[in-house]
Amino acid sequence: MKTNLAVDFCGVHFLNPFVLASSPYTDTAEMVARGFEAGWAGAVLKTTATQDEEVSIAYPIMSSLNRDGRMLGLHNIDLISERHIGVMTGYVRQLKRAYPERVVIGSIVGRNKAEWQFLAREMAAAGADLIECSLSCPQGSMLEGEESPMGSMVSQDPRLTQKVAGWIKEAVPRTPAYIKLTSGVTDLGAIVRAVQASGADGVCLIDSLEGIVGVDLETLEPLPSVQGYTSRGGFSGRAIKPVALRCVADAAQAACLPIAGVGGIYDWRDAAEFLLLGATIVQVCTAVMELGFGIVEELGDGLSRWLAGKGFSGVGEVVGRSLPRLVEHDALPHGVAVRAWIDLERCVGCGRCYVSCRDGGHQAIAWNSGRQPAVDDAKCVGCGLCPQMCPVPGCIVMRSQV
Ligand SMILES: Cc1cc2nc3c(=O)[nH]c(=O)nc-3n(C[C@H](O)[C@H](O)[C@H](O)COP(=O)(O)O)c2cc1C
Repeated sequence: MKTNLAVDFCGVHFLNPFVLASSPYTDTAEMVARGFEAGWAGAVLKTTATQDEEVSIAYPIMSSLNRDGRMLGLHNIDLISERHIGVMTGYVRQLKRAYPERVVIGSIVGRNKAEWQFLAREMAAAGADLIECSLSCPQGSMLEGEESPMGSMVSQDPRLTQKVAGWIKEAVPRTPAYIKLTSGVTDLGAIVRAVQASGADGVCLIDSLEGIVGVDLETLEPLPSVQGYTSRGGFSGRAIKPVALRCVADAAQAACLPIAGVGGIYDWRDAAEFLLLGATIVQVCTAVMELGFGIVEELGDGLSRWLAGKGFSGVGEVVGRSLPRLVEHDALPHGVAVRAWIDLERCVGCGRCYVSCRDGGHQAIAWNSGRQPAVDDAKCVGCGLCPQMCPVPGCIVMRSQV
């Protein structure tokens, strides 16, 4: 059994909730077309600006964080597209002609009111279904004549965010426009409420996390090394998912705005989690760069089967469904005793639970002579560390003592 995945976001109809995020591979119409052919319902073109903005990229722009041969995250010092608004609006026209039922989203960044309004009007005139406004690029989205408190992204400041979002809605009142935000703020709720106050139609969370991915210990050069130098960049992929989920939930609890969730989505389970915490559509960037456009098939199949299996009639029914269970710490049910329980039939005797409990927990697991762990209920507080360390699924479970 499968469920129809169609969904509406900011008043625009999507065949499914899966959208290609603004990225190097949405920098040409040809690549976006390949994504649409694979099954993606929409695409955000690479962020573009006005003609007179010089974009000069210093290569290489990427370096990754790997452990045991697996990429945990990708780091980039990319900039916005080298293709200016005129080229991008050409792509919008081309794509809308060829794929009228797919959603084409123009991504823009301006330096002042005139630029923001010009870019928004150009995208709307070209027929973009939606406009994504990048107030969040880790390489900077400054506003001329304005000093943001942190001196970097517009979306770190509620006043500037409301101002820019207001300019955009003033310029294109009939084209839905939403604001892409950064996670790098103390009070995300204040930023999201500022977007709502501006009249903009929604938010997108999150852009890549500002970071430094590492240093080459041979050359002492921070990475990625551009002739020996680097700059702060954006970190994306698997490792940022918890931050992105938290931001989506924060936004959903702070205001009543549609949310596009993005950050670390690799499979249908990730996507379902974003929906449950308040996203209506999800965007994917790094996973496509690693695994290709074809992952949309697994995303769709898996989500559709899970919805059907749970008895949900569509995507809309699960959006925000887990939010009521996200409470302040003092509202948690305190006082219920929880203990670790180990299934010795499944235990492989690796001793990881013993070591982590001994040195990182409450010294509640004994290691007996038969190379088997034994939980001391009097010492176990139920912290939940040992099942995380156990390599065998279901071997250690936390049991409530009720
Ligand atoms: C190489 C690269 C270039 C990106 N370029 C843009 C961009 O031009 N505009 C934008 O809004 N986001 C850009 N992003 C951020 C992604 O759209 C996305 O928000 C972020 O990577 C988190 O999603 P992910 O974990 O699925 O990659 C870029 C990301 C990467 C990795």
